[in-house]
Amino acid sequence: MRELVLRKKDHVTVRKELRQERTAYSYMALATPLVFGAFGLLLGRRHERLRSAQEQINRMHEEFCAIAAHDLRNPITALQLRLETLRERMKDGSANLPAEALERLVTNTRRLDQLVSQLLDATRIDSRKLEIAAVPTALPECISPIVDRLRMTVGKHSLELAIEGAPPAVMADPSRLDQILTNLVDNAAKYSPDGTPIRIAIRPEQGGATLSVTDRGFGISKDELPHVFERFYQSSRARAKKSGLGLGLYITKGLVDAHGGKISVASQPNRGSTFAVWLPRATPG
Ligand SMILES: Nc1ncnc2c1ncn2[C@@H]1O[C@H](COP(=O)(O)OP(=O)(O)OP(=O)(O)O)[C@@H](O)[C@H]1O
Ligand SMILES: [Mg+2]
Repeated sequence: MRELVLRKKDHVTVRKELRQERTAYSYMALATPLVFGAFGLLLGRRHERLRSAQEQINRMHEEFCAIAAHDLRNPITALQLRLETLRERMKDGSANLPAEALERLVTNTRRLDQLVSQLLDATRIDSRKLEIAAVPTALPECISPIVDRLRMTVGKHSLELAIEGAPPAVMADPSRLDQILTNLVDNAAKYSPDGTPIRIAIRPEQGGATLSVTDRGFGISKDELPHVFERFYQSSRARAKKSGLGLGLYITKGLVDAHGGKISVASQPNRGSTFAVWLPRATPG
């Protein structure tokens, strides 16, 4: 505007300036609805995407609650019934709990404890709040007693431990290593026929050491393989068994990641599977 006043003697220049000003305004006036329209469209699309993501989260939440409620209710109901019976019997002085009933109480309590721990760990992994206390660890010494304990849990399977070469010490949290191995051996036993062997091996591997669990079980199909580490994923065979939440491998991978390690799987249907966990070596000093 000030420029126009300064040049008001020069008729031609002023008109030219005015024309330019008008052109700029009218261009803006024309462009504004287009810009706002495009912006509105973008916002609309973004809103739509957010809404469908939110719907997906809600669906997952519902699915999760249904599964958790189902799996938690069974052991709780069994526990409740047993405890009520025990109370009645104690009242009339005949509280001599049969060993088998006591065993079932212990098993159900353990299962309940496992489920709650699994849910808590999965939540911690989701919110990246999983904490590990990694220390230099010699795998053979750490794994051996765990394998001895696991032998009592694998039913009719045999459990073999092989130490190949001289694996270096790795950075690991021993209690989390226990959880990793327990989950993998639990799966190996669950998804293979009774009597088949399960082999645990420890060997040196580039920059660290690998701990692997091999079974001669049902294996995993090519289609299912990319999904086994996903939260709540279970094959149709596993779902039909109605056992577990499909969280074991999700948590195992979360634990391995928290160690700065890697987990991989190789499997052939009806031949078996190998899950391998690589952990970085402990740096000296
Ligand atoms: N060793 C294995 N052999 C064949 N299939 C396996 C093996 N390990 C895992 N799977 C498949 O991967 C799925 C996911 O395993 P994951 O351990 O996460 O869940 P789950 O064993 O079904 O339940 P959870 O571990 O929560 O009790 C299983 O349901 C099964 O289909
Ligand atoms: Mg499992």
